[in-house]
Amino acid sequence: MNDLLLKAARREPVDRTPVWFMRQAGRYLAEYRAIRANHSMNEMCSTPELAAKVTLQPIDLFPELDAAIIFSDLLVIFPPMGIHLEYTAGEGPVLDPPLKSVGDFEKLREINPEKDLAPTLDAIRIVRRELDGRVPLIGFAGAPFTLASYLVEGSSSKNFLKTKTLMTSEPELWGKLMTRLAETTTGFLLAQVAAGAQMVQVFDSWVGALSPDDYREHALPYTRRIFEGLRGCGVPTVHFATGTATLLELMGEAGGDVIGVDWRIPIDEAARRLPGKAIMGNLDPALLFSPLPILEKKVDEILDRMKDHPGHIFNLGHGILPGTPPENVRAVARRIHAR
Ligand code: CP3
Repeated sequence: MNDLLLKAARREPVDRTPVWFMRQAGRYLAEYRAIRANHSMNEMCSTPELAAKVTLQPIDLFPELDAAIIFSDLLVIFPPMGIHLEYTAGEGPVLDPPLKSVGDFEKLREINPEKDLAPTLDAIRIVRRELDGRVPLIGFAGAPFTLASYLVEGSSSKNFLKTKTLMTSEPELWGKLMTRLAETTTGFLLAQVAAGAQMVQVFDSWVGALSPDDYREHALPYTRRIFEGLRGCGVPTVHFATGTATLLELMGEAGGDVIGVDWRIPIDEAARRLPGKAIMGNLDPALLFSPLPILEKKVDEILDRMKDHPGHIFNLGHGILPGTPPENVRAVARRIHAR
């Protein structure tokens, strides 16, 4: 089996840097769009055969990839909690009703991942069987702040105004909500490991909107609960967020064997500030639209900056953007193989 990913996550020596891409299954692939044309996002996430099929698309198209990531979404936990979720073409996800009060919190259902999130767990079992050891399979879920932002705003957000206002003006409700979200994510990730996920990633995509003081007080304790809950689960853990140049040390404190960083910070600086951690990410997803020589130069720069650091997983600093030329995804993976 190709276990480069798991070795790098444990900071063991590897012959070559492993590479995978966040959102490697998605709209930039014609093969994905062909299936998506006939199914809603909710249907794709809740039909194990469909989720398994699109998970495997990038692996079959790009044998250079060193990992698969299960096709699902951060927000799949919300419908079983009693929140209506729809993905709209223009605005992204819409959650209804958004959480405004203690009363809304009390109405949230406590979920049982084995039962309520069975389609994702079944998709993991199918993919493990079909991969047959070709590459490891990554499971994932959301960190409490990023999940809370969708639940409180009811959609994607730029300023996180409602979320931050709830956080500062209703600390007790905030604590209850964040605790519930941390417990939900921990249970979901442990169930994914039991179903066959070989590494798990916690996405805190939007936590870079917080100052270090607010992160320390209002987000870190809850994210730490997740990593404490995963201790001893037997698989490496990844803690990913964007906009974290001022938060890196605190993120490391919250947990994760691997810390995922975006492109706003030099990767070797992140590595220096996170002793003992493996590092993932850093290539700006927008660069995948650039001419190949420029793209390859950036790939080389990241590899050069990390050549003496044990534990490097090549990835983008955030997910692949729709419209990305698939041949450039392949070119990045090939460049890494060629070194
Ligand atoms: O990486 C992978 O290939 C696995 C699939 C994956 C999806 N979502 C599928 C998806 C993963 C890892 C996610 C995580 C996710 N979901 C995050 C964290 C990563 C990040 O991008 O910050 C977030 C914030 C979400 C919530 C979410 N899901 C939003 C805001 C949107 C709408 C914006 C968009 O990109 O369309 C989604 C929808 C979504 N999740 C799509 C996919 C492939 C697009 C749905 C479609 O086909 O129309």
